[in-house]
Amino acid sequence: MPNIRTKDLIKVYRTGKSEVIALRGLDMHVAEGELVAVQGPSGCGKTTLLNLIGGIDRPTAGRIEVDGSNLVDFADGDLVKYRLAKVGFIFQFFNLVPTLTAEENVELPLRLAGRSPSIRAKRRKELLELVGMTQRSSHRPDELSGGEQQRVAIGVALANDPPLLLADEPTGELDTKTGQEVLDLFRRLNQEFKKTIVVVTHDARVSHIAHRVLEIQDGKILGETAAA
Ligand SMILES: Nc1ncnc2c1ncn2[C@@H]1O[C@H](COP(=O)(O)OP(=O)(O)O)[C@@H](O)[C@H]1O
Ligand SMILES: [Mg+2]
Repeated sequence: MPNIRTKDLIKVYRTGKSEVIALRGLDMHVAEGELVAVQGPSGCGKTTLLNLIGGIDRPTAGRIEVDGSNLVDFADGDLVKYRLAKVGFIFQFFNLVPTLTAEENVELPLRLAGRSPSIRAKRRKELLELVGMTQRSSHRPDELSGGEQQRVAIGVALANDPPLLLADEPTGELDTKTGQEVLDLFRRLNQEFKKTIVVVTHDARVSHIAHRVLEIQDGKILGETAAA
């Protein structure tokens, strides 16, 4: 799990009288266990695509099949359950709670999922170790570098062990070295922990970790390159 296929995916944003067609018939497939990169110019629909696959938003038309079920057919409550159980999101600007420490941030999704204190403590420790943040666990986001904040954010995304990670320009705010560390962590999550990963990025180095790189233009897949 999971195997993702979009079919003729269309997304139109309507604001007042204006209309933006963000996706215009996008077909893509991500197999279980793959690490797929998505590239394309600003405004081509990358974030829209991730939001639809992750069940944050709904398409105007088309299908999003995840392990054979069409997300479009899900009731709102089922879509929320899908998101909580299956999807971890990683964003460009880390999205940590500023008043909480690294370990409290990582623990938050476990609390929301109703995990017991002992399970939370064990899992929190595992997660901080996994992302290499054990030494800085009691620091708040404003006391951490960008790369450290992103590693904590990856810990948050992994907290409830979702099989699918969706990352939206995760290295966009990072310097070369810490960006590479984040990409290395994605590779490890894919290879060792068998996470299926879709990562939107302008970072050319992603071709070293991705199985395939998809190119989007004007809301459609323009082409794809297999990894080196
Ligand atoms: N909530 C929204 N309301 C209106 N237009 C939007 C909204 N979100 C995105 N768009 C528009 O849809 C297009 C695709 O946006 P987006 O998916 O964010 O592209 P990308 O992530 O590739 O930069 C852009 O023209 C953008 O302005
Ligand atoms: Mg975007």
